[in-house]
Amino acid sequence: MFTLAHLSDPHLAPLPEPRCSELLNKRVTGYLNWRRNRRFVHERAVLDAIVADLKAQSADHIACTGDIANIALPEEFRRGRAWLQDLGGAPEVSLVPGNHDAYVRGALALASRFWGDYMLGDDGDGLPYLRRRGPLALIGVSSAMPTAWGLATGRVGGEQLAALARMLAKLNGEGLFRVVLIHHPPVSRAKRHKLLDDAWALKHVIAAQGAELLLHGHDHLAMLNWLAGPGGTRVPAVGVPSASNAPGRAKHAAAYNLYRIDGSAGAWRCEMISRGMDASGEVKERERVMLAG
Ligand SMILES: [Fe+2]
Ligand SMILES: [Fe+2]
Repeated sequence: MFTLAHLSDPHLAPLPEPRCSELLNKRVTGYLNWRRNRRFVHERAVLDAIVADLKAQSADHIACTGDIANIALPEEFRRGRAWLQDLGGAPEVSLVPGNHDAYVRGALALASRFWGDYMLGDDGDGLPYLRRRGPLALIGVSSAMPTAWGLATGRVGGEQLAALARMLAKLNGEGLFRVVLIHHPPVSRAKRHKLLDDAWALKHVIAAQGAELLLHGHDHLAMLNWLAGPGGTRVPAVGVPSASNAPGRAKHAAAYNLYRIDGSAGAWRCEMISRGMDASGEVKERERVMLAG
């Protein structure tokens, strides 16, 4: 049995105090939004309680689907590295960047510099990256890109999509449990300015090549959608709330998921166990769902 844990959107608090020169771009609206709203939603104590509970589960591997930062200040990447190192070593934690980690031009370079080893495939640099862990093939896809003011959209792009299709086909031949990690959901009810631009193309690749599981963040909601796979199969696409979302505020309270996976190709068993924070601040099991087997 292999246990994979998934958390997302930690949006590390508190926000470092920016220099004026660091706000001469899209960051200024994000900064005002943080001051007015988001600092009352994303709490470090909530995140710390979620991470402590997650660590107590002794997962074999942890996936984090982005938005560690808020407005991509250089100091947020330094603090993000410390947070990642506390979560686990780079071989045990797989990260994909979110739109807040790519908030302004140049931010993704900082993400690579400070967090690059958490986004490194077994065979080195490049996207999508591939990590083999036990019976799992973890495939990290980036949907993060700098966008204009007011936009939180994402895009995978033709090159990554073609490489993803090749990877999924090859790994299927190897009989591995294929897990796709991506920040933006392929299916979402969010407003247009927050969506994955080429979700249709991603769904097309999944429909042609299949996958056993797709994990995402971004909407800050507990979500389960079934994507069409090849030959009438279905692929679960699961999203988690923000790991720092205080209970009783906007969106769903902080939570993470565990996946208990065993079996073999054609006969996988995969149980999802959601654990999250209740109104009293305690982290406990919320639900169990059999996704396969
Ligand atoms: Fe987020
Ligand atoms: Fe996001």
